[in-house]
Amino acid sequence: MSRHLEITLRKAETLKEKPDEGNLGFGRHFTDHMFVMRWSVGQGWQDAEIRPYGPFSLDPAAMVLHYSQEIFEGLKAYHGADGSIILFRPLDNLRRLNRSAVRMCMPEIPAEEVLEALKQMITLDRGWVPQAPGASLYIRPAMIATEAAVGLHPANEYLFFIICCPVGAYYAEGFKPTKMFVEDRYVRATAGGVGEAKTGGNYAASLKAFADAKAKGCTQVLWLDAAERKYVEEVGTSNIFFVIGGELVTPPLGGTILPGITRDTVLKLAADWGIKASERRISMEEIMAAAADGSLTEAFGSGTAAVISPVGEFIYKDKAIQIGGGQTGPVAQRFFDGIQQLQRGQMPDSHGWLVRAA
Ligand code: COI
Repeated sequence: MSRHLEITLRKAETLKEKPDEGNLGFGRHFTDHMFVMRWSVGQGWQDAEIRPYGPFSLDPAAMVLHYSQEIFEGLKAYHGADGSIILFRPLDNLRRLNRSAVRMCMPEIPAEEVLEALKQMITLDRGWVPQAPGASLYIRPAMIATEAAVGLHPANEYLFFIICCPVGAYYAEGFKPTKMFVEDRYVRATAGGVGEAKTGGNYAASLKAFADAKAKGCTQVLWLDAAERKYVEEVGTSNIFFVIGGELVTPPLGGTILPGITRDTVLKLAADWGIKASERRISMEEIMAAAADGSLTEAFGSGTAAVISPVGEFIYKDKAIQIGGGQTGPVAQRFFDGIQQLQRGQMPDSHGWLVRAA
């Protein structure tokens, strides 16, 4: 691990046509290059390469295909006000990937060196960073177990890669209040499980609830705790915040919730802006009572893909709970605007969150 990572650069001979920035959707178009490196027992990380985007060849016995030993991350790059390309808190994502790696018995990556490789690749593909308002370059690092073996054990070989895609809003609604289904049959994570790791299985396990919620006209699922199905945990693709009696409230990180980097950004900005915020357990009973007495004025999701996404309505046990008259509230709007300005270098970076790639 302590060996310096040598990065080979192999440029694409033909460049792809870029998509229309006004119609990007989310995660459908991929840039010209990707970063790849391999790990094996005794050798550590090797064969680090920025190379043309393209398929891998995998043995059908590759362990990821059988036992889901996989982790990933999501971060973004933006066009800065000064013409630079800006990455937002990239080391926080790479370090979180390493925490997921430890939980999933996978090797940690040399985060600082991988960040240098990422900056080099983004500089090469800088023409893919969209300039349209609200659009960005979504960066997806991932690691998979590639050892060909069917017996269950932590794999002896892994592939780490980073791909990038220009994206617009994650939800088809854009920055508009979503309708959310509060799931009380299925659960996302249990204490002692892998809920706080960013591993594909957590997302695969969420699909049935998501499909059922969609059939009921909802955009997303709000997960409850596995033990009592009483306390709010997180949304399918983001963390969750409520504004109750003027105070920002979000569930605490206790091992079952993804430690979101946007969640942390919201909490730190709330402190900067003098907004009272607390991390505490919130029951659906409390949400319903606060909605009934008018003290619950807003709810919004926070995530890299979702950014800040207001919630207009929760569906819980066949009842509709409307939030803020179904409109985007001032707190969600302030975080949405503030975070976007910060990420594009239009606000002072007092926390040192911005890393310029080019
Ligand atoms: C992200 O917000 O980066 C995620 O990984 C969520 C994913 C479902 C797009």
